[in-house]
Amino acid sequence: MSAHTFILNGKRVSVDVDDDVHVLWVLRDVLGVTGPKYGCGLGVCQACTSHINGKAFNPCSVPISQIRSSDRITTIEGLPATVGKELHPMQAAWLDKDVAQCGYCQPGQIMTAVAMVTEAQAKHRKVSDADLEQMRNVCRCGTYPRIREAIRAGEANMPKPRRKKTKTKTKAKKKKMAAKGTAA
Ligand code: FES
Ligand code: FES
Repeated sequence: MSAHTFILNGKRVSVDVDDDVHVLWVLRDVLGVTGPKYGCGLGVCQACTSHINGKAFNPCSVPISQIRSSDRITTIEGLPATVGKELHPMQAAWLDKDVAQCGYCQPGQIMTAVAMVTEAQAKHRKVSDADLEQMRNVCRCGTYPRIREAIRAGEANMPKPRRKKTKTKTKAKKKKMAAKGTAA
C-alpha cells in the first residue's frame, strides 16, 4: 500500500492503496463516488468516462500510480460545480430530451459530451457530425438519437471560453498619442 493524493471534484483527497489499483476502483470502492460506471474494465465501453484536467479519460484503465498530486479528476458528481450551477447545461439538455432509458451508460455519455464540446470550443468551432461519429460510448438501450439531440442542445447552452483580449488602440488613444508626438 502507498499513499496517493489528487483533486477530486474540487477537493483534495488522499487514499492508501496499492499502486496497481485502477482509478475506477479508487473512486467507487474507496471514495464512494459511484457516478463512473463499470462496464468492461478495458477502456472499451466508456461507461466509466470522467475528466482528468478537463479531458475525457477512462479511470478503469489507469492505475492510481499514474495520477499526480496536481491532477484534477472530475466525475459526473462534480460536473455542475464546474459551471457553478445545480445542473450542468449538458445534464439539463439530457433531462429536457428525456435521453436515459435504463440510465447505466448515461454518466459516461454526458462526460464524453462535455469534453467533446469543450474541445471544439477551444478550437472556436461547434461539435461536428464527424465528432459525434467518433463517440465510442456504448448504450445497450440504443438511446443514440436522443444523445445526439441532447449534445446539440447542451452545446448551445454551455459557457463559451473567454477569448484572449488583443490590444487595439482606440481612436481617442491614437489622437492623444499623436498630440504628444508619439507614434500611434
Ligand atoms: S468500464 Fe471503463 S471503458 Fe468500460
Ligand atoms: S440507457 Fe441503458 S445502457 Fe444506455
